[in-house]
Amino acid sequence: MSSDKPRSPDQARRLAYARLDLAAAGDVDTLLIEQGVRILRAGGLVAFPTETVYGLGADARQPRAIERLYRVKGRPERHPVIVHVAGVEAARACAREFPERAERLAARFWPGPLTLIVSKADWVMDSVTGGQDSVGVRVPAHPLALRLLDGFGGAVAAPSANRFGKVSPTRPEHVIDDLGEDVDAVLDGGPCDVGVESSIVDVRGEEPVLLRPGGVPREALEEALGRKLAGKPTVRVSGDLPSHYAPTARVEVVEAAAIEARAAEYRAQGMKIKVLKPEDVEARALYAALRRADAEGADVVLAPRPSSRGLGEAVADRLRRASGPRP
Ligand code: TXA
Ligand code: MG
Repeated sequence: MSSDKPRSPDQARRLAYARLDLAAAGDVDTLLIEQGVRILRAGGLVAFPTETVYGLGADARQPRAIERLYRVKGRPERHPVIVHVAGVEAARACAREFPERAERLAARFWPGPLTLIVSKADWVMDSVTGGQDSVGVRVPAHPLALRLLDGFGGAVAAPSANRFGKVSPTRPEHVIDDLGEDVDAVLDGGPCDVGVESSIVDVRGEEPVLLRPGGVPREALEEALGRKLAGKPTVRVSGDLPSHYAPTARVEVVEAAAIEARAAEYRAQGMKIKVLKPEDVEARALYAALRRADAEGADVVLAPRPSSRGLGEAVADRLRRASGPRP
């Protein structure tokens, strides 16, 4: 799981060739995008950067591509994936009904770290929605993602580009560490700006529901809606499994003032302890910090309690899940 893990010779060679070709050709991004679009059209898997975390993309209309996506991800079949599109018009085309409050949130936060749960259009496959009558749609803000989606011209189903149940990737090397040769291409967009997954809002009912706190703070969503968000999930969300987002090490949230004493206690018992700094529990840094702790072989990660405002709610949520019981 280390990000320092050497790439396989084949992988290294492929990457080196890709770099040479691209450097010779001039506009690296344009070539990468064209290649990504071709792979998606052929039913392949393309990992791409978004502002939240890296996604593992497949053509949402190709059953075989979605099948392979689930297999590579190691994800149970009944867990829905988010459909990524280049703009609000394409998002409307995924929905049977795109209510006024969806329009309002889309206008305010797209492109951006927000996923809307709407009733699904007929063409959206059960394998994408986990058999539910709803679909999650989002327009990501990363320029490479937008160019890929725009070039592809359709809907791209994409979970986070990690194996199921593990910490989401926020850097291209995390994707390669996790998925290796199982992914056909990784578009390198550097580290993700936001660093935690999108906020998920179910806008179907009378009461909008925040299913997952994420990259858009609750306060901003509530302000745009002019009302409070309900918080109790009414539908299945795979992020709800207790062990989701978990590194290998056990995670404990501790008040900052007590953290060194707790670390000393554990060390006296012979355990390897990783103490996170306040800057490690900023959204942008969190997942990389958890991956580093695993790479260093920590038994326990001690994290200071994050702020309860802004993206702190999403960070607290991920830390709580990471500290939950393991299967
Ligand atoms: O920021 C993100 O959302 C990232 C990037 C790649 O866009 N994607 C992401 O996907 O986090 P994933 O598959 O790791 O998590 C998607 C979440 C899951 O918890 C899933 O259950 C929920 O979205 N979801 C998707 N469609 C849904 C639906 N129709 N109803 C309820 N939840 C849904
Ligand atoms: Mg995920």
